Amino acid sequence: MLSYRHAYHAGNFADTLKHLTIIAILRHLCKKSGPLHYVDTHAGAGRYDLQDAKALKTHEFNEGIGKLWGRQDLPPLLDDYLQVVARLNPSNNLHYYPGSPWFAAHCLRDQDKLALCELHPTDFPLLREVFRGDMRVRCFHEDGYQRSLALMPPPTKRGLVVIDPSYEVKTEYQTVVNHLQALHKRFATGVFALWYPVVDAGRLQQLEYSLRQTGIKRIQLFEFGLTGNHDLPGMGSAGMVVINPPWTLREQLESTMQWLINAAYPDSDAYWRYLEIAGE
Ligand SMILES: C[S@@+](CC[C@H](N)C(=O)[O-])C[C@H]1O[C@@H](n2cnc3c(N)ncnc32)[C@H](O)[C@@H]1O
Repeated sequence: MLSYRHAYHAGNFADTLKHLTIIAILRHLCKKSGPLHYVDTHAGAGRYDLQDAKALKTHEFNEGIGKLWGRQDLPPLLDDYLQVVARLNPSNNLHYYPGSPWFAAHCLRDQDKLALCELHPTDFPLLREVFRGDMRVRCFHEDGYQRSLALMPPPTKRGLVVIDPSYEVKTEYQTVVNHLQALHKRFATGVFALWYPVVDAGRLQQLEYSLRQTGIKRIQLFEFGLTGNHDLPGMGSAGMVVINPPWTLREQLESTMQWLINAAYPDSDAYWRYLEIAGE
């Protein structure tokens, strides 16, 4: 089933946390000169037009990047994030929003490689076009689960795998955990980042339980919501699960997200949650 199009949701509050997490991890990994491999199992279209009918139908970006655009007072990680978005919008009007591969490509260096998987017949050609000419990038019109597994471990044994499915089928909550376990078996020192939506509390509890049951160590969970009331319709919050996080990640995300909530979502029900799912 491939009815999901990220163009309706690009730049929303959930993308903010997802893309901040990717930037923070890659900036940390890039402190060492050894080449990195970035794998995006669900890459999307690579770039989104916020003036397109799909984005304008939901206006979700107003609650995400729209809260930050034009601000001059941002702490370092948010400033870094905004500068990447600004490169796509040189005229200072917020017109385009980058997808996860675009954020990654802008953090990575000449010696690094990116493998981007996207199955959708409309989004795949858009993705390929965005990265045409970038010799670091390979785009795969293939199932991201299968391709990412085939790429493990990367030759330099340094890398980040981002798993960002659309959860169109309920079984995907278990599929992602099984997949993380399979990836980790092949590449135990890799960094893995999984995005998840919170649409009901039961499914989230099940996800946390299944992750604990894997026996994988060093798993952290970061969650950002516009409301903590999970009984309301729609996606009120979303999070990132990171395996083998850089030691700086928790502190960096925590201070950034607290700042963001106070500055951009005052007098709202917005919240931030950290959970250590598994320690050392
Ligand atoms: C949430 S979107 C990705 C957004 C993107 N990661 C970003 O942050 O900009 C999920 C994407 O996964 C694609 N997709 C769904 N199942 C897939 C699969 N098995 N392998 C690769 N791509 C898939 C969908 O077509 C959709 O474009």
